[in-house]
Order: sequence, then C-alpha cells, then structure tokens
Amino acid sequence: MILVTGGAGFIGANFILDWLAAGNEPVVNLDKLTYAGNLENLRPLQGDARHIFVQADIGDRERVETLLREHRPRAVINFAAESHVDRSIHGPGEFIQTNVVGTFNLLEAVRAHWSQLPADEQAAFRFLHVSTDEVYGSLGPADPAFSETTAYAPNSPYSASKAASDHLVRAYHHTYGLPVLTTNCSNNYGPLQFPEKLIPLIIHNALAGKPLPVYGDGSNVRDWLYVGDHCSAIRRVLEAGRVGDVYNIGGCNEKTNLVVVSTLCAMLDVLHPDSPVIPHGSLIAFVKDRPGHDQRYAIDARKIERELGWTPSETFESGIKKTVAWYLDHQDWVAHVTSGEYRNWVSTNYAGNMT
Ligand code: NAD
Ligand code: TYD
Repeated sequence: MILVTGGAGFIGANFILDWLAAGNEPVVNLDKLTYAGNLENLRPLQGDARHIFVQADIGDRERVETLLREHRPRAVINFAAESHVDRSIHGPGEFIQTNVVGTFNLLEAVRAHWSQLPADEQAAFRFLHVSTDEVYGSLGPADPAFSETTAYAPNSPYSASKAASDHLVRAYHHTYGLPVLTTNCSNNYGPLQFPEKLIPLIIHNALAGKPLPVYGDGSNVRDWLYVGDHCSAIRRVLEAGRVGDVYNIGGCNEKTNLVVVSTLCAMLDVLHPDSPVIPHGSLIAFVKDRPGHDQRYAIDARKIERELGWTPSETFESGIKKTVAWYLDHQDWVAHVTSGEYRNWVSTNYAGNMT
C-alpha cells in the first residue's frame, strides 16, 4: 500500500480517487483536515476498504511512525501543506509550521522507519515530495522557462516555506540515502479546488453575480495544468523516477490572469445562460495588487517527457471546459465549503477592494 498525506485537499483527493480508479493498491490517507481538507472530496470512497483515513498532523512524528509500522507502505507521497500565497502573506506562521517543521518531522519519522526495513524493502521504498514551480521565483517576459536546474529564488512566505521543504528532502537523500523524489508543478486547476484560488473563485463569484477580482492589471502569467494530468505525472514519477531526482511538471499553457478570467466568463455566458449577469465579463474588477506578486511562471517539462515519457492529456481548453462543468454540477459542494471560515477569509483578503 501507499501512504498519502494531505489526501483530503484538492490535489491529494484527486490523486487518491484516480489511484483507486486505476488499480487496487490500498491508500492510507493522513490529513489534519485544516480549512482546506474536506472529507466530502472522498465521498465516492465511503465504505471502500482500500481507503483508510487517519486525521493527523504530518508534524506528529510518533503518530506517523506508528502508522508506518502498522501499515508498512512501500511509498509516502507528501501533498500536505498550507498552499495559498495570499494566506501566507496575511499569516506566514502556519506555513512555516506545516511546510517546514511538519515536513521535517515527517522526514524524521520516515527515516526512522525506513532505516530499520530489510534491504529489499529499503531499496524499493520511495518518499515522493509534491512541490511547486513557485520555488524558482518570477520570470521576465523573455526568460526561459524554469528547468530542474534553475536556482531557487522564492518570493512569498508560501514559496519560501516550500523551498525549505524541498531542501530538506534533498538533504535527507544526500545525507541519509533516503530514496526521495521531488516534483515541482505549475498551477493546477480542476474539480475539488477550494474557491480561494483564482479559477474556482472566479467561477463562484460569477455564478453569484459578484465582482471578479483581478489583481493589478491582470498581466501576471501562470502555466496552467489540469489536476488529473498532475496526478498522472506523479504516478509516473513514483513508478519510474530516478531516486534523488527532481522532475518539473507543467502544461505548456501560459496565460495571463486576464485571459483566464475572460475565458471563464465567455464559457459561463454559454453554459449558464440563466445567470443574472450576462456578459459575465462585465463583473471584472481590477483590485489592489498582491504584495510581491510574481510576474510570470513557466515550466520546462522536457525532462519528464524525455526520461519518463509523460505528457499532459488535457489542453487548457478541454480542461477548463471540464472544470466549469464540474463546478456547475457541484453547487452543493461549493455551498458547503464556502460557509463561515471562507467568508472570514474573503473579508480579510479583499477588504476595501470589493463590494
Ligand atoms: P490544499 O490546500 O487544497 O490541500 C492541502 C491538504 O493538506 C488539506 O487537505 C489539508 O487539510 C492538509 N494539511 C495541511 N496541513 C497539514 C498538516 N500539518 N498535516 C496533515 N495534513 C495537512 O492544497 P493543494 O492545492 O491540494 O496542494 C497539494 C500540494 O501540492 C501542496 O504541497 C502544494 O504546495 C502542491 N502544489 C499545489 C499546486 C496548486 O496549484 N494547487 C501546484 C503545485 C504544487
Ligand atoms: P492563485 O490561484 O492564488 O495561485 P498562485 O498565486 O499560487 O499562482 O493565483 C493565480 C493568479 O491569479 C496569481 O497571479 C494571482 C491572481 N489572482 C487574482 O488576480 N485574483 C484573485 O482573487 C486571486 C485569488 C488570484
């Protein structure tokens, strides 16, 4: 079996659902259930013995060690993190606690477990750390895309905390020989993404007839990847990645935020003709920029394609269509996750900017 951390969040839940749809290897899912973790994401697995959920913190070393002893997973895949840049700007403490101290404690538990395994199990074991392209910093318009050898230059408390965790993972391989793999992926979108991130937030606000906040002038560029493609890349790296190596994952879909928001608006005009506001583009509101806002991210994903034969299945157009359709069909999910805590967040982040 495998142990997944953060499997009740956006990417972790998609990963577990895809994993168990593709095979029968059981998953232990360790998740603290922060505001971003939601067991409703895993509802299709209710009563499924292949999924074992454990509410716990990756920073709880004893608990993790006990779980590892009990289940003897052949791999640990670490998705657990605080993941939202804007929240890291308002309150970086939790990001240091989970992403840095938590990853350190998780690595310590895994190292203790791994070091007493028999040689064949040690050799087959993997610790796969899921990270982000944001550790590489910000690109100018003509700069080449981030490769695995681009120097780290994180700019936000979020990316700095992820960079620190990447360095710890690297050090545990270099120093202790722990068989690690690291993936650095671009911006994901798709079903089950919490509506604090750009794409689900815009869909949610547009359906409610609320302003669509675009930071600054909307010219910042992100490289978008459908979440199912990120999950297939992780499966492939787990299966065939070279121990100690880093793999960049991206969709070759660079878009400005304004293009993303306008695409969503045009799609909703067609798919949601009963909306109180058509065209949805009339709701676009340029708001105060994010402090230290990275201008451009772009991923050079040639290594994973060349060495592991992975390429994405979705184009931006096909992925975004599926995503909008999913949010339209899952308004109950959106209503559940946008209750109390979510409203507090919206009033903190958009204070003075939005009506
Ligand atoms: P998310 O915020 O949706 O989910 C994070 C999950 O981790 C939640 O279920 C939460 O309850 C859990 N968690 C948080 N702190 C924990 C702790 N201390 N112990 C155990 N569980 C804890 O995040 P996501 O978007 O699914 O991202 C997953 C991973 O992928 C993160 O490591 C993130 O840095 C990375 N990543 C995300 C993106 C993206 O676009 N979302 C892109 C590249 C990499
Ligand atoms: P986000 O989804 O938070 O991901 P990240 O900051 O990790 O890239 O934001 C994606 C882009 O969208 C980023 O450039 C910030 C911008 N953005 C807005 O313009 N308005 C918003 O309300 C949000 C949440 C993000």
